[in-house]
Amino acid sequence: MKKLIAGNWKMNGGIDDARALIADVVNAFDGRRDVLEACDILVCPPFLHIASVRHALYNIDYIKFGAQDCSRFGNGAYTGDISAQMLADSECSYVILGHSERRQHFGDTDAIVAAKAALAHEQGLVTIICVGESDKEREQGKHEDIVGRQIAACIPKSANAANTVIAYEPVWAIGTGKTATPADIKAMHAFIRKSLTGKIRYPEDVRILYGGSMKPENAAAILATPNVDGGLIGGASLNAGQFLAIAQAALA
Ligand code: PGA
Repeated sequence: MKKLIAGNWKMNGGIDDARALIADVVNAFDGRRDVLEACDILVCPPFLHIASVRHALYNIDYIKFGAQDCSRFGNGAYTGDISAQMLADSECSYVILGHSERRQHFGDTDAIVAAKAALAHEQGLVTIICVGESDKEREQGKHEDIVGRQIAACIPKSANAANTVIAYEPVWAIGTGKTATPADIKAMHAFIRKSLTGKIRYPEDVRILYGGSMKPENAAAILATPNVDGGLIGGASLNAGQFLAIAQAALA
């Protein structure tokens, strides 16, 4: 399966930073046919920077762009929210949903994630649905219970192997410099693959990404782990050289 290397820019920088970063990313991947044959490349800027990124990617088909969230409602009186339809209209092809930072700071529950994903699918967006346990849950040996429950509750009926990507992001590994060991990742990704059976047809074709402090130094080992079909990269995606180096690690 072709890997998906996805950059989650989170809430960083101004419009000039976004313009500079997307220009750097375009330059970094330009002509890297080896990398582009092995990986699909995606960037997810903040909502307000999507238009600039779209503009920079006009006529460039080797980098896709998407958003970091969408509304759980269709268009209407929902002040401050941004609908899946608006993302599709802005030519986003992906949307990240259920990121642990959304769950922690904005009250996104599994049911909300499922509602958002259903609307995103209606608009033809590919959803990257994030799951993952906290450090306490892992210490207590509950990581499979937690992730299994998230998978069962977050994936709507509209999901299929083409419109759904799962990102396993252990909460304790996000932005901390700590990564799960390849053995833990291998076990969890196999568990996720198994949990998809019965939820989605052709579960073997669903991409399962790893996320949490992925860097050029650890990317080769992580991307070579069975059932790891790419990465969701936060901090390191804000540097085009590091982002390229992570994608390049898929060739190792
Ligand atoms: P990180 O973030 O790479 O900075 O740990 C990953 C994510 O939150 O998607």
